[in-house]
Amino acid sequence: MHTQVAILGAGPAGLLLAHLLSLHRIESVVLETKSRSYVESRIRAGVLEHGTAQLLCDTGVGERLKRQGMRHKGINLGYSGEIHRIDLSDLTDGKAITVYGQHEVVKDLIAARISSGGKILFEVDDVCVDALSTNRPRITFRHQGQDCELTGDWLAGCDGSHGVSRTSVPPGALRVFEKNYPFAWLGILAEAAPSWEELIYAHHEEGFALFSMRSPSVTRLYLQCKPDEDLSKWPDERIWENLERRLSFAGSKKVRRGKILQKGVTTMRSLAVEPMQYGRLFLAGDAAHIVPPTGAKGMNLAVSDVWFLTRALADFYSKGRTDLLESYSNSCLRRVWKAQRFSWWMTCLMHRFDHDDAFELRRQLAELDYLTSSGAAATALAENYVGLPWEG
Ligand code: APR
Ligand code: PHB
Repeated sequence: MHTQVAILGAGPAGLLLAHLLSLHRIESVVLETKSRSYVESRIRAGVLEHGTAQLLCDTGVGERLKRQGMRHKGINLGYSGEIHRIDLSDLTDGKAITVYGQHEVVKDLIAARISSGGKILFEVDDVCVDALSTNRPRITFRHQGQDCELTGDWLAGCDGSHGVSRTSVPPGALRVFEKNYPFAWLGILAEAAPSWEELIYAHHEEGFALFSMRSPSVTRLYLQCKPDEDLSKWPDERIWENLERRLSFAGSKKVRRGKILQKGVTTMRSLAVEPMQYGRLFLAGDAAHIVPPTGAKGMNLAVSDVWFLTRALADFYSKGRTDLLESYSNSCLRRVWKAQRFSWWMTCLMHRFDHDDAFELRRQLAELDYLTSSGAAATALAENYVGLPWEG
């Protein structure tokens, strides 16, 4: 099998790339190790930047997003028992975020690909990538019990943080930048109507907590925990008690409890590789960079990467030019590093690192006070949160 662009991974990066390429009449095949139902129900991120929601709507996959996505014009910061609203829209000329689960984006993109005759092979196995420096990069894999081979003019590695594309690049060709954090998030999905209308990032002596949502009847909540946290030590009652303490604010309602539908631990790390390209392989999304979830940037970076990649491939196929392909990595990395900085900054602002460090606690509280009392500081947060421009 040969195609113009062979894509590894049916997450937001791989699926959106296939969709955007098809609008330029560029052919692709997507290979995915998991099943369709698995990727369509995997609970991941949930906040779309202004530009991400706009792109999905402008390219014809925003129908359900427009109906079911929850447009939020602000977020809240909770600290010292008080809640403070940051008016994102006022501070960014009317921009907003949309709360819409990543798996819903994945469902919409798969439906669009399938209805327009696009090829996605689910449940592939033994995926190997080679010939990256030739004009015909190659993927070998097993599908439905058969040995298969897919070659492409180009290969897009959109196979996430544990995929094979990044590790198939010869050692030394990529530089890896990494930072680990001494905590993780214990996340739950609960069958409960959201108690507040907008997200709350809460700083608390016992550790960070986040109030978020997925729909008018489903709440998403997180608690700072240890990286090796044992979930069996967290019965539902302990989770709710912790959330109630960390999300308790003067004069405000309480977090509403409900049946816990899902529980999991998300580890926190920052990682970036440079360049995001080797031979005819382009890395995009989590395959190229990971951010801690505090700034809600992961899925949005995957979207901007594939926007840059589509533009470069469209230029190649329509005009035979390769300059945008050559500058793909630099274009993405400018934005990636700003998102890395923002995610790292928000993570350091909101979490307890060392419970004995009283200086650090005072510094965080002073920064939160500054953010919620200075227009300049709040604007810096708001413009990053709704998403910086894709270029410049
Ligand atoms: N071959 C094919 N597919 C693979 C392989 C492989 N060897 N290894 C992994 N995959 C698949 C995974 O099963 C997954 O469906 O690649 C897909 C990668 O998707 P994501 O992990 O969602 O990554 P990406 O599309 O870059 O989206 C980034 O995902 O983890 C979140 O916070 C992150 O929101 C961000 C978003
Ligand atoms: C989520 O709803 O899952 C979510 C929201 C904001 C974040 C991270 C995750 O910063």
